[in-house]
Amino acid sequence: MRIFNIIPIILSLLLSSTAAHSPSNPTSLTPWEQIHQTLNTYPLAIDFKNGPLFASVFAPDAFANYTGYLSNLTGIDAIRDGLLQSVSGLASQHQLGTTVINIAEDAQSANSTTYFTASLFSVAPATAGDFTILFGLYADDLVNGVEGWRIVKRQLVFMAPNLGNLTLG
Ligand SMILES: *[C@@H]1O[C@H](CO)[C@@H](O)[C@H](O)[C@H]1NC(C)=O
Ligand SMILES: *[C@@H]1O[C@H](CO)[C@@H](O)[C@H](O)[C@H]1NC(C)=O
Ligand SMILES: *[C@@H]1O[C@H](CO)[C@@H](O)[C@H](O)[C@H]1NC(C)=O
Ligand SMILES: *[C@@H]1O[C@H](CO)[C@@H](O)[C@H](O)[C@H]1NC(C)=O
Repeated sequence: MRIFNIIPIILSLLLSSTAAHSPSNPTSLTPWEQIHQTLNTYPLAIDFKNGPLFASVFAPDAFANYTGYLSNLTGIDAIRDGLLQSVSGLASQHQLGTTVINIAEDAQSANSTTYFTASLFSVAPATAGDFTILFGLYADDLVNGVEGWRIVKRQLVFMAPNLGNLTLG
């Protein structure tokens, strides 16, 4: 077997094993680190279309505003279903950057600002080659619940024009 033939196999093995990891949020981590783990689990949930993993990111009664037709997502089911629908037919990569986390004095609530770059590529034959790159930030409120730190409120804010020719939503 030539090396070219096995590269996709290796890639798919890597991707499937990566997708299987979910953070354990061990209490040995500081609150800042635990919140960081929660925030950074989001790209794994959406990019690997891992429905159950959204519950490791958002609280059951969370509210999220991703603007447009995703402006009013109330509850974990609406958030998960809306976001998964927004990437169906797409390969996506959400790259998080600048992160500032403010933890309240009682260490039970927090807010954070996290920059993202979201790259979305069509995998649908009819629109093969179409892509868009989105630039923005997530402004989040978090609460330390029984299962650990979870986002209770997320507001997406776009920071620059989109690139590419993929028509979304
Ligand atoms: C969602 O965010 C948009 C853009 O900031 C805002 O105009 C809209 O009022 C928000 N909707 C809700 C339900 O919060
Ligand atoms: C958002 O959705 C809730 C129900 O989930 C509804 O009660 C509320 O009126 C909606 N708000 C807007 C601005 O559409
Ligand atoms: C974020 O948290 C900090 C520290 O607790 C607080 O001073 C600030 O008012 C909060 N900001 C928002 C927008 O909630
Ligand atoms: C969008 O751009 C890609 C990459 O250049 C191209 O393959 C595709 O045909 C373009 N689609 C449209 C609708 O222009």
